[in-house]
Amino acid sequence: MNEKQQTIVVMFDKIAPTYDIANRILSFGTDINWRKEGIKKALMLGGVQNPQILDVATGTGDMLVFWKRAIEGEAAYTGVDPSVGMLEVAKQKVSFASFHEGYAQKLPFEDSKFDFLSISYGFRNVTEKEEAVREFARALKTNGRLLILEFAKNESKNPFRIAAQWYVKKVLPLLGGLISGNLSAYRYLPNSIEGFLTRGEIVAMLERNGFEAEIAKDFSFGVSSLIIARKK
Ligand SMILES: C[S@@+](CC[C@H](N)C(=O)[O-])C[C@H]1O[C@@H](n2cnc3c(N)ncnc32)[C@H](O)[C@@H]1O
Repeated sequence: MNEKQQTIVVMFDKIAPTYDIANRILSFGTDINWRKEGIKKALMLGGVQNPQILDVATGTGDMLVFWKRAIEGEAAYTGVDPSVGMLEVAKQKVSFASFHEGYAQKLPFEDSKFDFLSISYGFRNVTEKEEAVREFARALKTNGRLLILEFAKNESKNPFRIAAQWYVKKVLPLLGGLISGNLSAYRYLPNSIEGFLTRGEIVAMLERNGFEAEIAKDFSFGVSSLIIARKK
């Protein structure tokens, strides 16, 4: 992988031990609602018996925990991430899933294997995004659902949005740096959001690579965005 991508992965290796606690504190626990709602909507749209679920950029495996809570009955859970440090935490925390080392740009799975593919707060970190979207389409079955949760770029002038942005830019890096002991990793977050795509640009990228977007909405005044798309 390219150097920029490797630097990002090394950064996640370093913050892996404190990642979960920092996440809950920094989002005041609201990320739990964003995750639950995304999964609930994806299951309503694409529910099947015994689904095969893949969580890309799984990190410490949080999304898989929420997938399992939402699914009644049997399902197969798989997580993939290039950070060995994050995967170590995931393996200790999530015993019901299988974990693999790998990049979104080159998923280590056969074609048309999965009914659902989620990527939460991971797409921003992928340096070749269009390549990754093509991989998502390849790994999903026809009518399989892609669920993206992200901090999309958002230039709305809504005062609540501006206040939230101030928190993400000014307060969050300091708090995250304090919890993790790694200030630069948490400075990376607001910078990566500024260099990222808007929700509309992500939808356009999906639609030119074999997906039909079904839901595209914001949470918490645009702090987080949810996109659900069907593989055509
Ligand atoms: C902010 S964490 C999100 C973890 C988890 N999905 C969550 O919701 O808490 C971003 C994750 O993206 C992973 N990542 C970075 N580059 C990646 C890539 N090219 N392909 C897949 N995962 C990647 C990192 O290793 C890290 O675990």
